[in-house]
Amino acid sequence: MTSIRTQTADENAATAGAKNTSAPLSKNAHLLNWVEKMANLTKPDAVHWVDGSPEEDEALKAQMVAGGTFTKLNEELWPGCYYARSQPSDVARVEERTFICSLSKDAAGPTNNWEEPYKMRRKLKELFDGSMRGRTMYVLPFSMGPVGSPMSQIGVQLTDSPYVVVNMRIMARIGLPVYAEIDKDYKRVVPCMHSVGAPLDPSQEDVPWPCNKEKYIVHFPETREIWSYGSGYGGNALLGKKCFALRIASNIARDEGWMAEHMLIVGVENPEGEKTYVTAAFPSACGKTNFAMLIPPAGFEGWKVWTVGDDIAWIKPDEKGRLRAINPEAGFFGVAPGTSAKTNPNAMIALSKNSIFTNVALTPEGGVWWEGMTDEPPAECMDWQGNRWTPEIAKETGAKAAHPNARFTAPASQCPTIDPDWENPSGVPINAIIFGGRRATTMPLVYQSFNWSSGVYIGATMGSEMTAAAAGTIGKVRRDPMAMLPFCGYHMGDYFRHWIRMQRSLSETPKIFHVNWFRKDADGKFMWPGFSENMRVLKWIVDRARGRALGKETPIGWMPHYEDIEWNGLDFPKEKFDELQAFDRAAWREEVLGHEELFLDLHDRLPPETIYERELLICRL
Ligand code: GTP
Ligand code: SPV
Ligand code: MN
Repeated sequence: MTSIRTQTADENAATAGAKNTSAPLSKNAHLLNWVEKMANLTKPDAVHWVDGSPEEDEALKAQMVAGGTFTKLNEELWPGCYYARSQPSDVARVEERTFICSLSKDAAGPTNNWEEPYKMRRKLKELFDGSMRGRTMYVLPFSMGPVGSPMSQIGVQLTDSPYVVVNMRIMARIGLPVYAEIDKDYKRVVPCMHSVGAPLDPSQEDVPWPCNKEKYIVHFPETREIWSYGSGYGGNALLGKKCFALRIASNIARDEGWMAEHMLIVGVENPEGEKTYVTAAFPSACGKTNFAMLIPPAGFEGWKVWTVGDDIAWIKPDEKGRLRAINPEAGFFGVAPGTSAKTNPNAMIALSKNSIFTNVALTPEGGVWWEGMTDEPPAECMDWQGNRWTPEIAKETGAKAAHPNARFTAPASQCPTIDPDWENPSGVPINAIIFGGRRATTMPLVYQSFNWSSGVYIGATMGSEMTAAAAGTIGKVRRDPMAMLPFCGYHMGDYFRHWIRMQRSLSETPKIFHVNWFRKDADGKFMWPGFSENMRVLKWIVDRARGRALGKETPIGWMPHYEDIEWNGLDFPKEKFDELQAFDRAAWREEVLGHEELFLDLHDRLPPETIYERELLICRL
């Protein structure tokens, strides 16, 4: 195997890339064959095997600056940081264009888009045929989870987007150490094909953000393959993240008896030095990153919250039957708007250097800004679409400086509260699981499930108002089971069954809770201050999980009395707390009807436990 160039590669076109077409960096015959086959299909001008070195990263960034994809930020203010603006049509995940192509439609279930796999393969062949013309195809090996951990998984993404390569370098472990893993030939590799779908003629000049208006985000769960076409944005294009670590991994996890979840992981350390790890599933743009980096408020001296992950958890029972979790990612792809030194100082430090910003605003000093970053907006900046933006223009037209789903890509290692065990190959032990949505009404601040199956029911029936993280109607409450509606790669009913069954492999089940930071009063104001103050709820959760806090039984679960919450440092009267925790029987009867919406679709696969739990809840109501 000497060269995998497929055409008479134009060396000039190749050197326009970070490097010349490079020699293969793996000896794995399957990988070499696949790369050659895919290069034959997509017909790139050059093939570049990504080694993951800092030099390569620099060269790719310089190339993108020259091509207009990246703007280098002011080195004094934002060292090592870059800025990108996407096409205005390529700003979020596209759930309507996301497919689970299992052999049978039933295996994908009613919550996923399905297409017959042979038909989809034919379509993809058509789309990818020549889709990389005029571009370089990057061979990008990545490990989800620390390289070599028994809980990690390996993928190789072929992509024509250097933007994807430099983002994946932050989000996953990539390059030479991963080839070494692949060359141990017993390691299974998930092939991930990606093209922005914008081939270039020799005469054609490139655009800053190439993409295609036709988009396909396709998963083949049986063969564990991913094909993504037409988008360069986040979850559509960084295939290690949602496509692999959730949609494909949820399939692997079901088969192997573990869980791949849309969850943050935190470690809570009390003043005595006892550490309790907790995971939490909140839907997209509902506060995982904030909660993962929580700083305890006044009144919690001696307490520390450690960050393990902010988006995805892989959770597996160990040989003693205890659940242990790893964060499969190495970086944060976080929502920028609303992130500030007040709301999330840890994120602000993590993103202060070596980070990439997409669809935020660019200031005249060569810095970035977004709504909520500072109290005072800059007098002038360039908005996420490249137009001049001023606070006056915003007042007149309502124009946002940053897109509501603008994101930063920042190395997890730069987070000041990153847990000393965040890369522990065996993961961290989990004592509690939290579910939560964005709900203006009905859902109290916090309650605890009666047991594992009632907890699974709470997760399975979770509702949340839609956000800008996906295309759709913002604000509408939709059922988002375990925050996995867009990410579960198989039938949701089977997924609930898998959750129920997990209990059998556990010597001790984690306690399950539900939280809602977003309940509003009659004036439409948030009733709970949130952010740091969420520590008060987290402490009750930890103490309940450790069996040392009181609560009262209600029709929906266990709730804290006012006195069970630590109020030191916050003036929050009992009447307000009672309003925040209020259980409204009429609203809950409506809520149960909402559960039905999803359960009707799933009913022939629902585990009996969820049906009994629903009946019990109705009886109590
Ligand atoms: P993905 O990365 O999309 O999966 O989402 P995420 O869950 O990590 O979202 P993130 O933490 O970035 O949530 C951002 C939104 O939640 C912002 O609008 C925040 O202002 C809001 N938010 C986070 N925590 C709180 C809170 O405690 N109270 C209130 N009111 N808003 C919060
Ligand atoms: C989400 O939408 O849940 C995200 C962002 O975490 S993305 O990776 O783009 O899906
Ligand atoms: Mn997410």
